[in-house]
Amino acid sequence: MTISNRLQSLLKHVESVCVLTGAGISAESGVATFRGVDGLWSKLKPEELANFNAFMRNPELVWEWYDYRRKIIHNIKPNAAHEALARLEELVKEFTLVTQNIDNLHRRAGSKRILELHGNIERSYCIECGKFAENIEVTKEKKVPRCISCNGLIRPDVVWFGEILPEGVFEAAIEAARRCELFLTVGTSAVVYPAAGLPITAKNQGAYIVEVNTERTEISHIVNETLIGKAGEVLPCLISIMEETRNKK
Ligand code: APR
Repeated sequence: MTISNRLQSLLKHVESVCVLTGAGISAESGVATFRGVDGLWSKLKPEELANFNAFMRNPELVWEWYDYRRKIIHNIKPNAAHEALARLEELVKEFTLVTQNIDNLHRRAGSKRILELHGNIERSYCIECGKFAENIEVTKEKKVPRCISCNGLIRPDVVWFGEILPEGVFEAAIEAARRCELFLTVGTSAVVYPAAGLPITAKNQGAYIVEVNTERTEISHIVNETLIGKAGEVLPCLISIMEETRNKK
């Protein structure tokens, strides 16, 4: 993998990094992406599964789907790309990981400074009283979990289409994008806003934008450098370069 001299020298000195990740970073762990040939949305209808009205119309179907995804996530592990970002966080003074993923794999890989733009599939809450629910189980008998306090419907703590992002999370992401010297966008098709606007915000503030993806995306013409390849191969390479060159300072 060849990288520019500019990126080589940035990796040696940079202290402020912001990273945006999408479904592609979890692909090598066995989590399906959304778009593309085998993407979830090529088989399933987001309007039937990932919005509030669909949930109210058929909570059983929506829970069946989220429970199916939870079971997949519980049987897989973070991959080398997730681990590389957890290491990157240790190497620089200022680091923010903004993820569109709800799969909790960044947290399991050891990342700490995470902003979950679209929520987390491991959390659920009551739509009536707002109480967070622990250890939600979907069974043949109990196809739709209910709140232990008010018996209200429990829903996954994820952002569905047409819903606003969790309070303060996107504002913190914009702040991190504005402050960083290096912005990495990894495994996202960059078609869903407002997340896809973050690399542009960072670029407007003078940051150097690097995209890691197996193919070009909607923002490839905007970024400073596109590294075509699998995140699980490209990110560990960038970390090795950082570790080698930073020790030589
Ligand atoms: N390494 C790097 N990139 C990869 C890999 C890989 N191993 N495998 C796939 N990709 C790339 C694809 O080329 C694609 O550009 O990851 C991207 C995944 O794009 P999407 O499936 O559109 O996922 P994402 O960008 O995260 O979607 C954004 O849309 O459906 C909503 O809420 C959902 O958070 C999601 C949002």
